[in-house]
Order: sequence, then structure tokens, then C-alpha cells
Amino acid sequence: MSEFKKITIAIDGYSSCGKSTMAKALAKELGYIFIDSGAMYRGVTLYCMRHNLFNSRGNPIHEQVIKALTFISINFEFNALKGTSDLILNAENVENEIRMPDVASKVSAIASIKEVREKLVEEQRKLGANGGIVMDGRDIGSVVFPNAELKLFVTAKPEIRAQRRYAELVSKNIETSYEEVLKNLIERDHLDSTRSESPLIKTSDAIEIDTSELTPQTQLAIAAQFAYNNLIC
Ligand code: DC
Repeated sequence: MSEFKKITIAIDGYSSCGKSTMAKALAKELGYIFIDSGAMYRGVTLYCMRHNLFNSRGNPIHEQVIKALTFISINFEFNALKGTSDLILNAENVENEIRMPDVASKVSAIASIKEVREKLVEEQRKLGANGGIVMDGRDIGSVVFPNAELKLFVTAKPEIRAQRRYAELVSKNIETSYEEVLKNLIERDHLDSTRSESPLIKTSDAIEIDTSELTPQTQLAIAAQFAYNNLIC
């Protein structure tokens, strides 16, 4: 793909709708960097959990979280076995821990803190400074890269998303139930789309893809077609 310009591709949408799978495959197809911005919010959440920065009701203690941000370093390291990058929190590979249900149940509250978002958005912009990147998240097309050449907004029915997520957790031997996964997903969707800081929105220039009835291969084919159309324009 070297003869083409390196564009920025922003993929936003609800949790577990196939965004990351699509983003990863698309990055591989184009020879681009893939960044899972949700992993960064999960990394900050894990740090806060380990340092007891939640009150007895399970809510983050904002002023303590904000103070802790100076001590948190978030990076990615390429994992050749998986062909994707793992999240590194203060020099420790925490890729498995950040996928656990207890992190999933707390991450939306951490992601709603303005200062957390400011720090991570700055990091995300640095990672994408040279283009040639596919980044997925909730505010990539609206806030992080508002001038991205291609913006995709991915959706799928909640029950289908919960089923996919549940199957993924079971395959990793993580104990949970379908009902718990569905409840967490609906709660996170609500928090992510109603928060005051950078809520999840579909920007007017984003192309919507409903993956409810699509296989990962078809999703990739659709996304790649949009990307190639963009590259030859
Ligand atoms: O994509 P994910 O489920 O790993 O994201 C984890 C959480 O982080 C999700 O609840 C929303 C939040 N998030 C966000 O607010 N902004 C992003 N760019 C990415 C994720």
C-alpha cells in the first residue's frame, strides 16, 4: 500500500459490536497501526482498582484519580504471537487483566472523568500523528481525530453483542453469565452515550455499519471497500 497516502481511520460504536475485530483486520489489510483506545481507559481503571481509588459504593474518587494520573504511563507493545499489541501499564503487561469483568464494570465511570480523557486523548493523537492508523473507541471520529479521512460507526443489536462477548469470555475461561454480560453492556452503553464529556455519538460524516447479521469476514470486506475508495479519491 506504500504508493498510497496514509490516512486516518476512526472506528466508533457501542461495546462488543465487532469494532476491534474489524479495526484490527482492517489495519492488517492496509499495513496500518491499530490502536484499541478502550484498552487505554481499561489500563487507567486497573491502576485505580489496584490503588483503591474507588469509594465504598464503587464510584471513583475523582480528585484521587486525577492526582494519580501523573503516575500512570500507558503504552502498547507488539505481541508477535497474536499479531496485535498488548497494553503496558507502568512497564507491566496487563493485557489479560484489563479484559476481566471487574475492570469492564468500572471502566465507564473512569472514562467519564474529564482529566482522564484529556490525558488519553493527547496520547492517542501522538500515536496517530503520522496517519496510517486505525483507532477504535467512542470519541475517535468526534474528538480525537475529527478530520479523519474515514469514519465508521459500528452498531449491532444488544442481545447479539452480549452473546458474542459472553462467548469470548467463556473461551478465555472467565467466569460470568450471559445475563451479567448483557446487563453490563446495556449499563456501559448508557453511561458512554449520556456522559457530559465526549459522549459516544455518530458524527454526520460517519458511515454506519450494523454488524448484527454480518460475519467478521463480511465486516472487513465492507470496511476495506470504504478504505480503498478513500485511498484512490
Ligand atoms: O471498547 P472497550 O469496551 O474496551 O472500552 C472500554 C470503555 O472505555 C468503554 O466503557 C468506553 C470507554 N471508552 C471511551 O470512553 N472512549 C474511547 N475512545 C474508548 C473507550
